[in-house]
Amino acid sequence: MASLQNKVVMVTGAASGIGRESALAFARAGAWVFGADRDTAGLRQTNQLAASEGLRFSVSEVDVSLASDVERFTAHVLASAGRLDVAFNNAGITGSAHRIEDYPVDDFDRVLAVNLRSVFLGMKFQIPAMVRSGGGAIVNTASVAALTGPGGMSAYAASKHGVHGLTRVAAMENAARGIRVNAIAPGWTETPMVAANSRQNPRFAELARTAIPVKRGADPKEIADAALWLASDAASYVVGQMLVVDGGMTI
Ligand code: NAI
Repeated sequence: MASLQNKVVMVTGAASGIGRESALAFARAGAWVFGADRDTAGLRQTNQLAASEGLRFSVSEVDVSLASDVERFTAHVLASAGRLDVAFNNAGITGSAHRIEDYPVDDFDRVLAVNLRSVFLGMKFQIPAMVRSGGGAIVNTASVAALTGPGGMSAYAASKHGVHGLTRVAAMENAARGIRVNAIAPGWTETPMVAANSRQNPRFAELARTAIPVKRGADPKEIADAALWLASDAASYVVGQMLVVDGGMTI
């Protein structure tokens, strides 16, 4: 298993799904994990799961689309742990589904703020902290929608294409400073986000799962394992890449 022994790690979206499983996986790999989310009840549950395993873990309520919140969270990690080694910028929303001509402008802006602006803000404060810590690794959550054009999902696809681009720029700017920046692109993953969509449209969900070559969605733990590997020194020569973890969905 990849190790994050004695690393200080921050994870956004830690109250649910991929973020929760990754935060727990990082802590099991030896890290001191700071989880952030805007969902206080979900954060409390993640914290309880971590405590039940005796993991080194703490949580903060943060809205990742707000610069003041993201700056405060990074400052809290530095004040508590004195350094920052790894960041997993993962919080996200899907937004509503409409053709472009019908897409509400406010919804579009909200999806871009939560999915893309958040990654820019995260890295804006994480990079100086990692420079001071002597290097680090950042993993951003993109999606297979960073490679495709799913009809109805203009805001989501635009935000995730943006995450891919931001990841490459950040990798280029920071490789020589010992900071590796990569992205992960999950396919259909069985999290509360997908469950909500499946409830709205169960027939579409069943068809989608059947269309995946492995004939099932991912367990969030499978995405967490890939994020852990990218964040760890096991991936020390992997720079500016987007690792697609999708059961073959995009081949
Ligand atoms: P989820 O809904 O289970 O978890 C997302 C978390 O982000 C929630 O805890 C939510 O409270 C948090 N969040 C949302 N807006 C926030 C904000 N403004 N500030 C702070 N926290 C906020 O969803 P899931 O599936 O775990 O998604 C995690 C990431 O993976 C997202 O970026 C999503 O786009 C991406 N993804 C998910 C896929 C899937 O099939 N589930 C596929 C591809 C990418």
